[in-house]
Amino acid sequence: MMRTHRCGELNRKYAGKKVILCGWVNSIRDHGGVIFFDIRDRYGITQIVCSPENFKEDEFSRIKSIRDEWVVRVEGTVRERPIDTINPKTPTGEIEVVPEKVEIINTSLPLPFEISEIEKIEETLKLKYRYLHIRKSRLTENLNKRALFTYRIREFLISEDFIEVETPILTKSTPEGARDFIVPSRLNPGKFYALPQSPQIFKQLLMVGGLDRYFQVARCFRDEDLRADRQPEFTQIDIELSFINEDDIISLTERMLKYAIEKTFNIQIEIPFPHISYDEAISKYGVDTPDLRIPIEYIDITSIFQQTEIKILRDIIEKGGIIKGFVINKGEKISLKDIENIDRIVRETGGSGLGWIRLKGDDIQSPFKKFLFPETIQKIKTLISSENSIVLFLAGEQKKITGLLNVIKKYVIEKIFTDRTNVFKFIWVTNFPLFEYNPEEKRFQAVHHPFTSPREEDISKFKTDPGGMRSRAYDIVLNGIEIGGGSIRINKKEIQEEVFKTIGLKQEDAQERFGFLLRALEYGAPPHGGIALGLDRLIMLLVGEESIRETIAFPKTQKGTCPLTDAPSDVEQQLLKENRIKVDTEKLK
Ligand code: AMO
Repeated sequence: MMRTHRCGELNRKYAGKKVILCGWVNSIRDHGGVIFFDIRDRYGITQIVCSPENFKEDEFSRIKSIRDEWVVRVEGTVRERPIDTINPKTPTGEIEVVPEKVEIINTSLPLPFEISEIEKIEETLKLKYRYLHIRKSRLTENLNKRALFTYRIREFLISEDFIEVETPILTKSTPEGARDFIVPSRLNPGKFYALPQSPQIFKQLLMVGGLDRYFQVARCFRDEDLRADRQPEFTQIDIELSFINEDDIISLTERMLKYAIEKTFNIQIEIPFPHISYDEAISKYGVDTPDLRIPIEYIDITSIFQQTEIKILRDIIEKGGIIKGFVINKGEKISLKDIENIDRIVRETGGSGLGWIRLKGDDIQSPFKKFLFPETIQKIKTLISSENSIVLFLAGEQKKITGLLNVIKKYVIEKIFTDRTNVFKFIWVTNFPLFEYNPEEKRFQAVHHPFTSPREEDISKFKTDPGGMRSRAYDIVLNGIEIGGGSIRINKKEIQEEVFKTIGLKQEDAQERFGFLLRALEYGAPPHGGIALGLDRLIMLLVGEESIRETIAFPKTQKGTCPLTDAPSDVEQQLLKENRIKVDTEKLK
């Protein structure tokens, strides 16, 4: 038998028992001739104590030659540690193993970096030795939690009659707002497959095929600029159903998340989650991904200053501008120095300066104080209730102000709301516009993807007011990060064609790219809709990481490279030739 126990399970109940452990050596040290080392595996760490009298001389000198990260097998007896050497911080801290035999299974080079200092290590080097990082860090536990979570998702969906289907990886472009990764086809020279940005069209075709309830833990590929929450390949929990409406999908998603999160993380999740419309989210939070952990809501206070004596504010209001800001309750942590800093940031970002009013007992503190009418002060006091509360505000054109308020909010969050751990605030964002205007390309584009259904009452607006049309889409946001999105889809060919036309796709191009979908919509496509959740992002938030790279075994760098395998790399001339590809090396220089 290779091993009888794992390194994390022995305690005083095992005292006197013979055991065999396997693992990596963690810090070997010589204490006056007695060799101590810890043996480590995925499950934990156990202390091993080797005294010279238990070994022949040559055996003992072999033990002394062992170095950190060597792989060993230890056969020995469990013994209770003397009281003064008990380590209550580890589950195996009450015992140690006294070996009769220590076998060196494999040696290791000294590690290229200290794992305890991994945060300081340069990214390329870190990813080059990803397996060492995995071996010695919380990455293992993140991957474990990810696997258990996915298992619970599958368990839930299968119990609700969903069928797991794999859709093609070598496929045709599905637009989700990014560039495609392409793969040449040797058998069809000059032609390319695209890797799927999502299984969107296939899952819709499965609904036309009568599958009724589909899901997939789906790999998606998007060639876009990378950020902490974006990777070029990532995983979606992808879902589609027939004969449903928005509420059915929203409720299913909530029950699924509650089930899988409670089972995997033992965190209680309250459902249903709150909803907010897109317009309200932008107005109150300045973004369509509100973070409900932060108790800051923007309020329009233009009406309070309607009759103001302050010329600069009056001019702005007369020109159609607004005054908007937010209240920070118990704002004593925002000092005059902070206010100066924020004012400077506002001016540097193109604003005309910061207005502020602080409640001090029955009085107020503000650079505008002597210009404010008593009624204005009274109205402001109704906004700011507690002592030291402060209202920060800006005046100007609506869109510009939202951007500036977001900058101020960021400053305030970093200053005041630093402890945001272990709270999970979900919110649904609904009622999105169907299209947005792209001024650079001078055309409308889909806010989600072009298969999203418009609302019934807006269908007549394709020609008259596409920008005013609303969609049947919904996003789900957790702690200010979009973790998923979906919609009710178009199931009528004519409407799908109208959408393609509105986003500037010529009829021939629409046929060329999506003819297969348009055809399918003519063969009895049922009403259908679905959602996709970003698995990597969800796990990142649930395990408390700052980047999705900490939830993916082998992620890519910011430049989309893999330092471990050196991908992407040159390929052999022969392969290029077979695929009829010529690389213009001159131009690459
Ligand atoms: P969407 O494009 O919103 O919708 O993607 C769904 C979710 O996938 C995650 N995600 C990413 N995660 C990591 N890296 C990326 N580059 C990345 N891009 C997206 C996000 C996002 O919310 N087909 C539609 C879904 C549908 O309509 O059913 C789709 O893909 O968490």
